[in-house]
Amino acid sequence: MTPAREGTAREMFDLDGRVAIVTGASSGLGASAARTLASLGARVAVVARRQDRLAALAREIDGIAVACDLSDPERVGSVVPAVVEGLGPPEILVNAAGSMFTEERAESEPLDAVRRTLDLNLVAPFLLAQAVFPHMRAVGRGAIVNVSSISGRVGIPGIPQASYAASKAGLSGLTAELAVQWARHSIRVNTVAPGFFRSEITGPLYESERAAEYLRRNTPLPKEGSADDIVGAIVWLAGDAGSYVTGQTIVVDGGWTAR
Ligand SMILES: NC(=O)c1ccc[n+]([C@@H]2O[C@H](COP(=O)([O-])OP(=O)(O)OC[C@H]3O[C@@H](n4cnc5c(N)ncnc54)[C@H](OP(=O)(O)O)[C@@H]3O)[C@@H](O)[C@H]2O)c1
Repeated sequence: MTPAREGTAREMFDLDGRVAIVTGASSGLGASAARTLASLGARVAVVARRQDRLAALAREIDGIAVACDLSDPERVGSVVPAVVEGLGPPEILVNAAGSMFTEERAESEPLDAVRRTLDLNLVAPFLLAQAVFPHMRAVGRGAIVNVSSISGRVGIPGIPQASYAASKAGLSGLTAELAVQWARHSIRVNTVAPGFFRSEITGPLYESERAAEYLRRNTPLPKEGSADDIVGAIVWLAGDAGSYVTGQTIVVDGGWTAR
């Protein structure tokens, strides 16, 4: 690569001074995304429930911590004003917080678990997108990256997750619609759909040798996925390197859905 092109490539990923909000940043993919965005120059607000972890990460990356239970729609509204006050108007929103609330088969999922799943995985990202919208419109640009899952695209035999899958598929529909509505303001909205990687949410799965073997057998690429394997797609979509991409769901799954 010539020096001139190298400079251009670096600029494409440079986030110098941009304010970013990363939810689910107290562990796993969200923490990895927050660290990576900060390393590219973004000023990052980290959001989740565990305040001690958020405070430590905020110190490490020179950002701010905003504690919030995102499964409560009444509380989600406190996040963006706290970020605006602490760092300024957000230009990047990464919705990585997510969880599963039941392992029941679809026919037995309790309504409460269905509602909690949708509130955290789908309603909170929507509310946060609504809250950042006026700030991104005022700045004249913005990038929203939602984190869904391959289970929003394909059924996963043997690991029941109907409401989780519905919430993640909902993110892709939301993504396409927001992308079209907000394109005129140069606000891009995309979704990254990871395959399996080791984290707190999947820890028990990887501890079972039988389940780990199932994951290996169904993943064409020979290495086990990690949060760091997913974060590149988030960074690409958050910055200028992804400046002509909007409304898309990008699958990052080691080939799981390519079979
Ligand atoms: N691991 C996988 O194989 C996989 C595959 C596909 C998609 N995903 C998706 O990737 C994203 C990141 O997951 P991960 O694997 O990195 O899991 P993780 O390590 O368990 O991280 C989940 C994050 O969400 C936060 N969170 C959970 N409930 C919350 C609530 N009520 N309010 C605010 N924050 C909450 C957690 O923080 P607190 O507990 O501190 O609140 C944590 O920071 C999720 O959306 C998940 O669905 C993961």
